[in-house]
Amino acid sequence: MSGTTTAPGPLSSAAHAAHVARLTPVLTARDVSIEYEVDPPVRAVRDVSLTLHRGEILGLAGESGCGKSTLAYGLDRLIRPPAVMTSGQVTFHDADGTETDVVALDGDALRAFRWDKVSMVFQGAMNSLNPVISVRAQLEDVLTTHRPHLTKQRRRERCAELLQLVGVDPGRLDAFAHELSGGMRQRVMIAMAMALDPQVMIMDEPTTALDVVVQREILRQIMRLRETFGFAVVFITHDLPLLLEIADRIAVMRAGEIVELDTAEQLYAEPQHEYTQQLLSSFPSLLGEFSYDEERR
Ligand SMILES: Nc1ncnc2c1ncn2[C@@H]1O[C@H](COP(=O)(O)OP(=O)(O)OP(=O)(O)O)[C@@H](O)[C@H]1O
Ligand SMILES: [Mg+2]
Repeated sequence: MSGTTTAPGPLSSAAHAAHVARLTPVLTARDVSIEYEVDPPVRAVRDVSLTLHRGEILGLAGESGCGKSTLAYGLDRLIRPPAVMTSGQVTFHDADGTETDVVALDGDALRAFRWDKVSMVFQGAMNSLNPVISVRAQLEDVLTTHRPHLTKQRRRERCAELLQLVGVDPGRLDAFAHELSGGMRQRVMIAMAMALDPQVMIMDEPTTALDVVVQREILRQIMRLRETFGFAVVFITHDLPLLLEIADRIAVMRAGEIVELDTAEQLYAEPQHEYTQQLLSSFPSLLGEFSYDEERR
């Protein structure tokens, strides 16, 4: 760089900084294969490689049973018997510059990584809130375990803050799961996944069980939170049209393999793989009226 002063151009804009940030990897998977060692064995994930960039929403689409959840478990080191990761590497590129070999994590290091760096909203999570303890107690539990230095006061404030972020009245903190609607329970699960400010959130079908209106509201909220906090999202669903609206890039999975991975625009305009074309054409009513640009606005 020369010492001459130049007018602020696109390179100094916040938008450009955000763009560059998104080209920085935060999580990479290389040749990941995962098998369920049952009889006969199921090769659920086959040689999958992908890069998740900082702050991006990466959609993972594909029919039921193609291996989406299994891959998600692989990315968050949640594989346990009968599942075995038979090959591959997963690397987390921390904002502080540290590189973490996710597969090798164990014990305390694993506990410090999960939730803290990469959190997960599990498929069917809204039904996994503990029925006999309050929302507050469950949120506080995450904070007590991972942020033991927080004062009681600060912990309580953080719980209220978290509910507010996901659009639930903090007045509901003392409620039990059965006192909340499905949408609220799912929001609480998202709040829990956000509790420690993770750099990556993996969301496995976070809105599938909800009606369309609630689903839209929650998605909008996730998009806003992503803008505010800059976390990256792996968003898993079989609903490809939904991904076209919210994802920056989309990976299409079939029978354990990623058959196509591209920007949402490109995938919609020129799907390369026959299976992607099939997936897109299986939503005819929507595509009949669907204008990609209008929908994204
Ligand atoms: N515990 C298990 N034991 C044996 N096979 C399993 C187990 N869990 C999943 N599988 C198999 O692994 C494959 C991938 O399953 P996975 O749950 O990852 O698919 P998915 O894409 O998430 O499906 P869905 O959209 O229905 O959630 C399927 O063939 C499934 O039957
Ligand atoms: Mg699944």
